[in-house]
Amino acid sequence: LDSDHVRIVEVGPRDGLQNEKKSIPMETKLELIRRLAKTGVTTIEAGSFVPAKWVPQMASTAEICEQLLTSPPPSENTIAYNYLVPNIKGLESLVKIMDATGVPADSPGSASKAATTTEISLFAAATEAFSKANTNCTIAESLERIKPIAALAKTKNIRVRGYVSVALGCPYEGPDVDPSKVADITATLLEMGADEVSVADTTGMGTAPRTMELLQALKAAGIANSDLALHFHDTYGQALLNTLAGLEHGVRCFDSSVGGLGGCPYSVGATGNVSTEDLIHTFNSLGLHSGVDLAEMSRIGAWISEELGRTNDSRAGKATLAR
Ligand code: HMG
Ligand code: MG
Repeated sequence: LDSDHVRIVEVGPRDGLQNEKKSIPMETKLELIRRLAKTGVTTIEAGSFVPAKWVPQMASTAEICEQLLTSPPPSENTIAYNYLVPNIKGLESLVKIMDATGVPADSPGSASKAATTTEISLFAAATEAFSKANTNCTIAESLERIKPIAALAKTKNIRVRGYVSVALGCPYEGPDVDPSKVADITATLLEMGADEVSVADTTGMGTAPRTMELLQALKAAGIANSDLALHFHDTYGQALLNTLAGLEHGVRCFDSSVGGLGGCPYSVGATGNVSTEDLIHTFNSLGLHSGVDLAEMSRIGAWISEELGRTNDSRAGKATLAR
């Protein structure tokens, strides 16, 4: 393994909570984000600026964003709070809050050392059927939609992540998603100004051999590992194996959710992301440094699972607490 530093993007408060059936009080969401910010994790997905009719659990994102921008920082680390935006309207809502609070995005690279920074994630899909289900448009239309969002984000100094969903399997079109299609969309997002693209196994159908094949296709398309992140859902229990394939290929940024929360509302049956606790445990075993505290993360996984009345899906989290 050529570098021993790995970055974890904690997606629990967004990818995790978006799929919960039961309504979750905003205070619980904020408490989750504040606790996560004290674990050493430096990027946290805090919500989505999407219509409530599409994803009801994300309806409190505007309030959460305002609270995070105006409250004292929960930790000494600079924390990047990331919000999903599906269209320009979503970004305009975020910018309005930033302007009203007077807190700039202050993306990395700026001179000052901000306590918090604001980022967005844009998303496209590798299959037409998923694109339609998740964003109500074709892949080409979604990329057109993304152009002005990325451009506006740049003028506001907002760091941009891109997502390519269903990169290793689609709930409608099956597991055989064309790796070169994923590579094309990844390259397009980077050209449009994404600072990093997270290639997502939305359904968890990915296997280690197909992950390696996909990573080769990304490399063949000229995409640098430093521009990539990997986002594995753990539906078939393959997320850690696929993570290892990513690590061996040289990728050093991975998305995960505390307690393995979540799933995608437009991917029926898909379970949560690989749990952050399992990921940290694996990184620790390999001598890789994420800077995130496993015991602290495990306590949060147990707490939020209890709050939500669901089982804690992190094996390493449960084992850590049982020791
Ligand atoms: P649409 O219905 O075609 O949108 O949805 P529209 O432009 O026709 O607008 C419909 C209504 O929504 C209008 O209001 C708009 O004003 C309003 P009305 O006139 O009916 O009163 N509206 C908005 N309201 C608030 N915020 C907005 C917004 N935009 C429009 N931003 C749309 C198109 C893209 C909006 C919809 O398809 C959508 O929100 N999709 C996102 C669904 C989603 O959040 N999915 C889960 C996240 S992605 C994911 O989980 C995958 C990921 O984890 C990676 C992986 O694992 O694959 C990232
Ligand atoms: Mg996801």
